[in-house]
Amino acid sequence: MSDQSTFDVVVLGAGSGGYACALRCSQLGLSVALIEKGKLGGTCLHLGCIPTKALLHVAEVADSAREAGRFGVRASLDGIDMADVKAYRDSVVGRLFKGLTGLIASRGITVVEGEGRLVAPDTVEVAGEPYVGRHVVLASGSYARSLPGLEVDGVTVLTSEHALELDRVPASAIVLGGGVIGCEFASVWRSFGAEVTVLEALPRLVAGEDEAVSKALARQFKKRGIKVRLDTPFVGLEQTPGGVRVTVTGGEVLSADVLLVAVGRGPSTAGLGCAEQGIELDGQFVKTDERCRTSLPTVFAVGDIVRGPQLAHRGFQQGIFVAEEIAGLAPEAVADERIPRVTYSEPEAASVGLTEAAARTRFGDDGVETVTYDLGGNGKSQILGTQGFVKLVRRTDGPVVGVHMVGSRVGELIGEAQLIVGWEAHPEDVAPFVHAHPTQGEALGEALLALGGTPLHAHA
Ligand code: NAI
Repeated sequence: MSDQSTFDVVVLGAGSGGYACALRCSQLGLSVALIEKGKLGGTCLHLGCIPTKALLHVAEVADSAREAGRFGVRASLDGIDMADVKAYRDSVVGRLFKGLTGLIASRGITVVEGEGRLVAPDTVEVAGEPYVGRHVVLASGSYARSLPGLEVDGVTVLTSEHALELDRVPASAIVLGGGVIGCEFASVWRSFGAEVTVLEALPRLVAGEDEAVSKALARQFKKRGIKVRLDTPFVGLEQTPGGVRVTVTGGEVLSADVLLVAVGRGPSTAGLGCAEQGIELDGQFVKTDERCRTSLPTVFAVGDIVRGPQLAHRGFQQGIFVAEEIAGLAPEAVADERIPRVTYSEPEAASVGLTEAAARTRFGDDGVETVTYDLGGNGKSQILGTQGFVKLVRRTDGPVVGVHMVGSRVGELIGEAQLIVGWEAHPEDVAPFVHAHPTQGEALGEALLALGGTPLHAHA
């Protein structure tokens, strides 16, 4: 039903949310225009998830080289060549980009290069050209926020995008914000040999996670030599010839080569035409109902421009959901609460579902049981030399409602954890499933046994 510029669906933004929506639309027989001012794949592929996780893998390799002697391997870490690191990272991104570009082309999706703006409830304009859709899906993503009076110059005061492009390892770095981005970059730079200080205004790192996770991460960061300053809001910045001087609450001044600003991401809605078209906003965020519908019946919004966890896989799932909704398949709404979260630092933190505190608020103190299994009893974790735990939260005599994990590589356990929480499994139902030995998955199995009242590897 499309002529050159009329489509079933016009998608604005080709990041995780937008491109997933376009692919699913085309699969369902809908004609789609996909508008993008940057590159297909968006922040996740080019500036976020993929390049940072490549960097974190390099950090793991560096740690392995540095600590090789512990395992009887004679090796040494002679340095980090950022040009080679960049080449490796770009090769990963490049391969994925090529694959995605080919995939989108093969599906008959009309890709429009340029900046789009909603000019009518069914029309997005790009460089003066109208693209009309029976439905419009806004998926314009997010940008790195800063603080009032804190000027990011990309040289000594950086966002994560600048930090990714840095052609050297800073000798010292202050990381402002102990959220996900702050923890991941603090971890990378420390592995690369930098002196790192994390400044966090709240009393804990990764404040959205279970408190036990925050504590364990802070403890292990300190063991790695990362200075973790909690309850320490930023007050002011002075740039010096050699770097930055940062004043924190109480008047203390800290110096470093660079300052990374990681105080959250804001929704990219400026100039999108939302307010002009009567779309209700919540601050800068687009307001939607649980079916991703905005206040205009023709317009949907997905991903980071909608308040909630700003995670690529949430946008991705919402994009698929909206395509199916438009196609009339009546899909199940994406529940923010069941979206898995992984912080890819060393150690990793991975979780899904409710924290213990959130479960207690919802179900009452008598309505919640928890169990924490220490990775000290897990063979594979001992082989890796990592410390941490698997913590389960269940409704008393009911399903598991939260899984929280800390330790090297625990992000890989999140698949099983999310099935357990997503299917509202009781520990007794899933504890009998056999885990391969030796794997870290066994720790999850042990925690389930303990929660079901039959712990095996526990002292009487
Ligand atoms: P965030 O919201 O996770 O953390 C920002 C931190 O900065 C908060 O803990 C906050 O208390 C602190 N802060 C704010 N103002 C401050 C001040 N004046 N002084 C000291 N501390 C201050 O945001 P972040 O880390 O920038 O990440 C942005 C988004 O990107 C998040 O939603 C995150 O989930 C997502 N992301 C996810 C990744 C993953 O899934 N692995 C990786 C990177 C980002």
